[in-house]
Amino acid sequence: MDNLNWLVKEIEKLKRNSPYPSARSLIMPALWIVEKHFPEILPEHMEVIAKILGVKPVEVEEIARFYAMFHTKKKGKYVVRVCTNLSCMLNGGESILQAICDHFGVKPGETTKDGLFTIEEAECMGLCNGAPAMTVNETRFTNLTPQKAIAVLEEFKRKENGKDNPQER
Ligand code: FES
Repeated sequence: MDNLNWLVKEIEKLKRNSPYPSARSLIMPALWIVEKHFPEILPEHMEVIAKILGVKPVEVEEIARFYAMFHTKKKGKYVVRVCTNLSCMLNGGESILQAICDHFGVKPGETTKDGLFTIEEAECMGLCNGAPAMTVNETRFTNLTPQKAIAVLEEFKRKENGKDNPQER
């Protein structure tokens, strides 16, 4: 399978170039490669990682299932993480999450029908200065209101078929 062959090469490259002596320290970076390039982290991905790093598959699986940044179920093209931790909660984070979910007709943790957005409730993302905050994949948005947050996502949606990507601004 081409995708798995690609992954094998990437994980081998990661291992080859790593300054760390322990293969275990490479489990998270290896999972991140899968997270970034595949819609979900599948058992066969974890097996590839385990085999190349010389660890047990269960060690890879435990990490993949523990950290919220890893998705073992199919995610949308954009993962929207809305912070509802203290600073954001005090500044309306929960109402932003609710407004986004209502707007797209999903619950936290679900993916929109068009497969574009997975909406998630998140813990503090270190953006408390600009609370309330959310991220869309790796792009950060701060000082949000429900209206602003929805407008951001609608812009992603609108530009999805267009030329310029809002993540690059
Ligand atoms: S509490 Fe939301 S970013 Fe810190």
